[in-house]
Amino acid sequence: MKYTVTHLKPFGILIEADGNDHHVKDLSTKMLKNYFEEEKLVVVRGFKTFDSSDDFAGYCERWGEVSLWPFGKVLELVRQNNPEDHIFDNNYVPLHWDGMYRPEVPEYQIFHCVDSPNIDQGGRTTFSNTSIAIDQSPAELVELWKNISVRYTRKMEFYESTTISPIVTKHPYREQFIMRYNEPPAKDIPDFINPPIIEFVGVEEDHLDEIQTQLRELLYSPQVYYAHTWQKNDIVISDNFTLLHGREAYTQDAPRHLQRVHVNSSPAFKNPGLESYR
Ligand SMILES: [Fe+2]
Repeated sequence: MKYTVTHLKPFGILIEADGNDHHVKDLSTKMLKNYFEEEKLVVVRGFKTFDSSDDFAGYCERWGEVSLWPFGKVLELVRQNNPEDHIFDNNYVPLHWDGMYRPEVPEYQIFHCVDSPNIDQGGRTTFSNTSIAIDQSPAELVELWKNISVRYTRKMEFYESTTISPIVTKHPYREQFIMRYNEPPAKDIPDFINPPIIEFVGVEEDHLDEIQTQLRELLYSPQVYYAHTWQKNDIVISDNFTLLHGREAYTQDAPRHLQRVHVNSSPAFKNPGLESYR
């Protein structure tokens, strides 16, 4: 099978089919996993994909144990009318990591683009590579972030949970540091539905603004930040341990429909910061 491999900037890899006849199932998972390890983000484009959510979930089993939610294995990310949570609205979503409120934190996020906005409608999925971010930061700042924890409380349809994490912490099974941070929603977003409660621990109140600004400037800097413009049938596999992710706002009528599956590491990573969960 022929395909073309291109490096994305500032991180990630794009694998594009040559011709219209190849199915994503025909790509070697071992090859894709090797790219995933190296690049933290793999985009597969131009292949035939899945004709149902079950078909997609079945494919994801190749990557490991698929994590089960109250709604099943596949989250349908599509705007709802009168949403009860910002996830199902069309506004921006601040950077965060998935599973932060759940008993297990998945390693892989696998997205399937069922339908994509037009180029001028927004709705890119945003990724920030925290491993690069740490490498680029002064050592004294990294030390400071190791000593600051943030406690997050969130209640939504699928859970009610409180979790805490240092901003800089060790990768679950690699000898490297990563950042875990759910940035507070920007203050100028008027209708942000159901924001989490965010409490910084170990920071004087008058340093909060400075710390949040430093983190925002770092995590959105061009050296660490990639925003993915969706095309129909894109598959994106992202490293939920190393990256943070979010979403840009999009126009209300944009035909944006993503499916998302969580796949656990082996063994599954138990959420170290979960304080309460139901
Ligand atoms: Fe997410």
